[in-house]
Amino acid sequence: MRKKIVAGNWKMNNDLDASIELVHDIILNIENLALDNTRVIVAPTFVNLHVVNEITAHSRVEVAAQNMHQATSGAFTGEISAPMLNNININTVILGHSERRTYFGETDEKLALKVATAIAHDLDVLFCFGEQLEDRKTNNHFKVVETQIKNALFHIQPSDFGLITLAYEPVWAIGTGETASPEQAQEMHAFIRGLIKNHFGNEIAENTSILYGGSVKPANAKEIFSKPDVDGGLIGGAALKADDFVAIVKAF
Ligand code: 13P
Repeated sequence: MRKKIVAGNWKMNNDLDASIELVHDIILNIENLALDNTRVIVAPTFVNLHVVNEITAHSRVEVAAQNMHQATSGAFTGEISAPMLNNININTVILGHSERRTYFGETDEKLALKVATAIAHDLDVLFCFGEQLEDRKTNNHFKVVETQIKNALFHIQPSDFGLITLAYEPVWAIGTGETASPEQAQEMHAFIRGLIKNHFGNEIAENTSILYGGSVKPANAKEIFSKPDVDGGLIGGAALKADDFVAIVKAF
C-alpha cells in the first residue's frame, strides 16, 4: 500500500531558534496521533538540517533537504552533495521545486542528473513538477507535466522507482492562496499515475505516492486529501506554523 505523506517545505524561512522551536512543537503535537502508514516530513534550510535531524531522531518526524547538486564533490561553491546528506543521516531530498526551476535555472535535463545521483546514494526523492498558469489557460497543462516527468524520471530503473515520491505543484497555486480544486488535483493525479503505469507498470504506479502542493491549508486539506489519487501534500506557508501543519497532518 502506498504511503500517505505530509511534507513541510520551509523554504528560506526559520533561523536556528525558530527551526528548533517549530520541530519541537510538531513532534510534541503528533506523537499521540495514530498515523498508520503516514510519513511526516519537514525540510529546513541546509544550515539547520543537521540539528533538526538530531532533534527528530526518536520521533515520527523525518527530515528532508530542499535541494542537492548532481555532482558528488568538487568546485561547486555554495552547493551541497548527496554524500554530505548521507553523512548526516538525511534520507530524503526535494528535487525540481518550481522555485529552483524558475530562479536557479534548473532544467529537466539537470534534474534527471540530480535524480540519478540521489538514487545512486539511496536517497528518497520528493520530485516536484507542475504547470504555469499560462499552460493551464491554453490547455497545455497535461502536456507540460508529461514532459517534465518523462524528461527527468523515465531513465530510472523500475527497481529504483520505489525511492520516488511525486509532488504535483501547479505554479499558479504556490504561495498565491489559490488552490487547485480537489477535482483539478484528482484529474491531474490520475493522469500522472497513468503515465507511470504506462511506462513502469501497474504495480509501481499503484505504489507511488503522489502529493499535491500549492496553498494547502487546514481549511482545504481534508477535501483535497479525500481524492483517491492524492496521497498527501507538500506544504509551504502553512508548514511554518506548528498548529497549521499539525492540523493538515490530522486531515488524514
Ligand atoms: P504554499 O503552500 O505556500 O503554496 O507552497 C507550496 C510549496 O511550494 C511547497 O513546496
